[in-house]
Amino acid sequence: MIRSAAMAILLATTVIAHAAEGAKSKADPAKGKIVAESICVACHGADGNSMTSANPHLAGQIEPYIYKQLVNFKAADGKPAARNNPIMAGMVAALTDEDMRNVAAWFASQKLTPAAATDESKIALGQRLWRQGDFKKGVPACAGCHGPAGAGIPAQYPRLAGQFPEYTVTQLKAFRVDERANDPESMMRTIAAKLSDVEIAAVAEYAAGLR
Ligand code: HEC
Ligand code: HEC
Repeated sequence: MIRSAAMAILLATTVIAHAAEGAKSKADPAKGKIVAESICVACHGADGNSMTSANPHLAGQIEPYIYKQLVNFKAADGKPAARNNPIMAGMVAALTDEDMRNVAAWFASQKLTPAAATDESKIALGQRLWRQGDFKKGVPACAGCHGPAGAGIPAQYPRLAGQFPEYTVTQLKAFRVDERANDPESMMRTIAAKLSDVEIAAVAEYAAGLR
């Protein structure tokens, strides 16, 4: 009896300690907003709706994905950054881990004003790749990991719906030549290696138009 009571108390205190830890590390989007308004605004917009296609939209992006990218842009412990981009390396250099969590929570909670798919001629091929992939070439359906409507799947898989097609093209080409190599288990490098320029343009256009 006494032993099981002691066990129960031990268990309860462990649970409380974990809850406190969770509370401490919980991201604060209000603090993230301050970072966004002072630093990120110039390129991504204060609400993560960027004005130019070179700078990706961040609004409505998957929160843990944003955080992971920020960590990946940062060179740490003398090792080169996992995702190499000189502009973003400069941006994250001054951010603490807490800042990165907060700003990720802020952008993830914002509403995306999606890009429009403008080139109708590419839609059919893009849609086929998105929904079915290309069995003969061994390309899996994008929908399997990025969601049928491109909204992404927490925690690993980013939203692609409504993103600038130019940005999506740049990333797929970077994965194709291993210039971007921060994808877990080479998931995207393996896929991009099998895509032609025409297919990349088509699927990027299709994803831009997804809602
Ligand atoms: C001077 C312009 C500039 C500023 C300021 C800037 N960024 Fe960026 N950001 C970029 C560019 C350009 C890219 C695309 C990099 C690439 O092509 O790989 C990018 C990419 C990103 C990505 C990756 C998005 C994705 O879909 O993978 C995240 C996350 C990000 N920025 C967050 C931030 C945050 C947070 C801030 C503020 C602390 C910020 N950026 C400030 C230019 C900027
Ligand atoms: C097996 C799962 C999987 C499939 C299938 C997949 N992806 Fe991905 N994709 C990922 C993961 C994981 C990432 C995030 C990599 C990281 O953490 O940086 C990603 C990232 C991306 C990015 C970068 C997004 C950004 O904001 O920078 C693009 C673009 C992309 N995928 C396009 C596609 C397209 C197009 C297809 C279909 C031809 C596809 N993916 C199929 C797993 C997948």
